[in-house]
Amino acid sequence: MRPLIIAIDGPSGAGKGTVARAVAKKLGYRHVDSGAMYRAVGWKAVRDGVPLDDEEAIAALARRSRIDVTAADVSIDGADVTRAIRTPEIDRAAAAVARLPKVRTVLVEGQRQLGAGGAIVMEGRDIGTVVFPRADVKIYLDASAEERARRRAADPAHSGGPTAIADVATALSARDEIDRTRTASPLAVAADAIRIDTTSKPVDQVVAEVLAVINARI
Ligand code: DC
Repeated sequence: MRPLIIAIDGPSGAGKGTVARAVAKKLGYRHVDSGAMYRAVGWKAVRDGVPLDDEEAIAALARRSRIDVTAADVSIDGADVTRAIRTPEIDRAAAAVARLPKVRTVLVEGQRQLGAGGAIVMEGRDIGTVVFPRADVKIYLDASAEERARRRAADPAHSGGPTAIADVATALSARDEIDRTRTASPLAVAADAIRIDTTSKPVDQVVAEVLAVINARI
């Protein structure tokens, strides 16, 4: 079978990470979380005190950084930031740097290199629309706002400490708003994407639906 490029997009808490990881495992493909790359850049900008709206400075920072995203870890310039990038502060920093077109150009370039040989499941916001407009399979995962906030609040990888679901919901909808309304590659459903609503669906069922879409395409 020809090595495919599979794009999985959708808002936070739609289940992209869990589903993309399981689908990649099933196919023996590489899984890449593109959001982790924006998070790593946001983390380094905060660490170095670079203003999050200074497009030139953040793009330069992104360009000179080595970001490694593996199935298990995320590192930037050799520093393991796997846990450090999952905090409320870095949620906001990542959304801020992701608005900047020049930063996106740098990261999209890296994402295209990772996917050049296919055999990849990449998740994000613009994978099917911008990064790989000719992806073999495009999936858009969505879920109700309440369900997405519930999942995010229960996610142990998110180390913000115990947080009320209402607070998570407020922060999530603020970030969604930034992701959807920014001018550079806003979160959008690609015309040829298959949309799957994951609200109250067990992970296994969503994974099976995605695999069925992939099988139907090949
Ligand atoms: O998926 P995530 O929450 O880890 O993503 C972090 C931020 O990066 C979020 O604000 C959306 C943004 N992002 C993006 O703009 N494009 C992508 N391909 C992936 C993430």
